[in-house]
Amino acid sequence: MRAMAPVFQDSQSGSWHVFRYEDVQRVLSEHATFSSRMGGDNPSGTGQLFAASLITTDPPRHRQLRSLVTQAFTPKAVDALAPRIAGLTNELLDGIAAGGSADLIRDLAYPLPVIVISELLGIPAEDRERFKHWSDVIVSQTRTAPAGETQDTTTSEMVEYFLALIDRRRSRPGTDLISSLLSAEIGGQRLTVPELLGFCSLLLVAGNETTTNLIGNAVLCLAESPGTLGRLLEEPGLLPQALEEVLRFRSPVQSMYRVAVAETVLSGQRVPAGAPIVAWIGSANRDGQQFPAAAEFDIDRSPNRHLAFGHGIHFCLGAPLARLEARIALEALLTRLPGLSLAPGAELERMESSIVYGLKELPV
Ligand code: HEM
Repeated sequence: MRAMAPVFQDSQSGSWHVFRYEDVQRVLSEHATFSSRMGGDNPSGTGQLFAASLITTDPPRHRQLRSLVTQAFTPKAVDALAPRIAGLTNELLDGIAAGGSADLIRDLAYPLPVIVISELLGIPAEDRERFKHWSDVIVSQTRTAPAGETQDTTTSEMVEYFLALIDRRRSRPGTDLISSLLSAEIGGQRLTVPELLGFCSLLLVAGNETTTNLIGNAVLCLAESPGTLGRLLEEPGLLPQALEEVLRFRSPVQSMYRVAVAETVLSGQRVPAGAPIVAWIGSANRDGQQFPAAAEFDIDRSPNRHLAFGHGIHFCLGAPLARLEARIALEALLTRLPGLSLAPGAELERMESSIVYGLKELPV
């Protein structure tokens, strides 16, 4: 598509699909031309849940909302979580080491991010499983969601739960993120309940599936590249750059959505005002114009300006946390299970989603 139809309109849905690095970067970052507002003025279903969250707002509201949470996610604030993340990783790996064989998604990559984000939000431990489940249904994948369960049912269950939790925190504040959002003010005004709900839902969904898939995709890339695995075992200091290459090569978020607010031209193609646009991050990250030998997994790639965390004002808020969790998880795997290999004959099945990219299971 990058060569033949880099900017392509799907005649059925009317959406415009953008594939080249340069165009994807523009769509993600030129917020005056490409709006993040989802579903226009009257979004429905899951759209409604995120309508007031920072990922679906434009400036100036976006800047105000983002300023409330940046402190919690700076590399420094996130580094303070490292000992807890390492402790959780080791607990999860204890279960694996004792058993011999495992599904690394179910046993490590899946629970780790959900526990970390639940703890940040102040969600009681006994409710974690329900959270993971809601997040799964909302990102429309089928790893654990029973067939037939609709996003709308899940959305209302989750909203009900959050409303009750917000009420509890209002009367008895804690040190968690929900309590600090409750007391935050923008220009003397508190956040509205839909804005609070938007924050909670976004952090839950954005922080779980994506990080699970980064860890799973990293294990897969290393299993396919024994030479790289050998180098990392000898030199674990190379892990951060290896993870950047995993983010490029198997991007956990494949596509993002925008709406053109004015007529514009992308790769010579006129795109009308009001056009819904899908920016294909996964394709941009394989664009040979930007990445020489783009189809090769090469941890020595430099520079590696991948778009896996987006670009511009909506650049992923959780990138430092995702990088830290993945580094700790992979370091622990390399140290504690150096002989790790994929289960013989394992059939690796991808999740059914055009947005998130990852495996349903990873038997080792
Ligand atoms: C935004 C990817 C992990 C929270 C984004 C965007 C991408 C992305 C592509 C840009 C959206 C856009 O341009 O519209 C990823 C990937 C992750 C990851 C690949 C893991 C490997 C996390 C985590 C959290 C998080 C762990 C939180 C705990 C957010 C938030 C935004 C965002 C709040 C919205 C930022 C804004 O609109 O200003 N992420 N993410 N993400 N991400 Fe992540």
